[in-house]
Amino acid sequence: MCKNFAAGRLHYTTDYAAAYRDADAIFIGVGTPERADGSADLTYVKIVARQIAETVERDCLVVVKSTVPIGTNDELECLLREALVHDVQVEVASNPEFLAQGTAVRDTLQAARIVIGTESREAEAKMLEIYKPFNLPIVSVSRRSAEMIKYASNDFLALKISYMNDIANLCELVGANVQDVARGMSYDERIGDKFLNAGIGYGGSCFPKDTKALEFLARRFGYELKTVKAAIEVNSRQKLTLYRKAVQRLTCFDGLKVAVLGLTFKAGTDDLREAPSIDNVELLLGQGADICAYDPVGTGNFRKMYPEGRHGCGSIAYAKSPQEALQGANLCFIFTEWQEIKAVTPDAYKTLMRMALVFDGRNIYPLQAMKDAGVEYYSIGR
Ligand code: UDX
Repeated sequence: MCKNFAAGRLHYTTDYAAAYRDADAIFIGVGTPERADGSADLTYVKIVARQIAETVERDCLVVVKSTVPIGTNDELECLLREALVHDVQVEVASNPEFLAQGTAVRDTLQAARIVIGTESREAEAKMLEIYKPFNLPIVSVSRRSAEMIKYASNDFLALKISYMNDIANLCELVGANVQDVARGMSYDERIGDKFLNAGIGYGGSCFPKDTKALEFLARRFGYELKTVKAAIEVNSRQKLTLYRKAVQRLTCFDGLKVAVLGLTFKAGTDDLREAPSIDNVELLLGQGADICAYDPVGTGNFRKMYPEGRHGCGSIAYAKSPQEALQGANLCFIFTEWQEIKAVTPDAYKTLMRMALVFDGRNIYPLQAMKDAGVEYYSIGR
């Protein structure tokens, strides 16, 4: 689909000057990583803006797709205009993207909406022309509102997940089942049925970064963004909820063989940024656990952080299958809902492990199925 869509009109180059020089519109999509204080690092966006200013030889529209704090598009427009080498007009438009890892093409071609933020009729007309062939709903607003839509959307989803994680923890205390609760809530169209899965906390390159960046921005303006702050706090606590359950059950992990199923922050990507597996593995190694980890695509990246072998008083090895990781294990953690992991039957835990003790951060199995198989099973909010 992607190939047909691009059909001979997609060219690649490492020569940025050649790409910018004669363009009608230039899209900036570089990263805005998190700084130590939680703010967004705009270094890369500014480098690109400067390169554009030094290169363009005709009037053009610079479109910022990168997630940037509110007001950055204004700032970039000033920077560009001040640094222009040739006598040309440049204007900046905001066009935040809403792509999720692993579904970028679908999220582009079948986007729920296209958001454009402009400050002139000309810029708006150009953006509408660019997106006309997509035939998707377009929300045309000011630049600052467009920048805010991106943060408000991501932070709302992060909040929704944290809310369900909070409810899940309470469900455990009061004897309710969070999956049943979510199902009951989902029929209400005002709530919807998406992003209601309680689990081990959100990770990835966007939610953790964008919640912190908006909270930081609010503070800079003297405002306390209490809801987003709460989402951040709930999430950092949630990441270790399984570990705490395991400590309660076993007291210590010294010399225990621990199977870890799933390393990436979600299924469908090899990305480990802010993955809950990292915090948990770090603690388990520190406690002397001998880990055998499995992930269908994430082990290559995880190995770079934790090479096979000893780490302090613990050790880590990597398995080619979930079954290999489970062989002879004293306990198992599930951190990612990969299909390959979901396919492991409850009986396999019972037959392969030394102790059939499973801590599942993704609520993969029905409680009864694990009970019937003789597995001691702990999950989230059930
Ligand atoms: C997200 C947004 O979905 C996307 O629109 C934005 O542009 C970038 O950030 P992504 O980070 O790729 O995309 O993944 P997403 O599928 O949204 O999941 C984020 C995290 O939330 C994952 O760790 C996932 O496991 C977790 N999650 C998601 C839950 O814990 N429960 C849910 O119900 C949904």
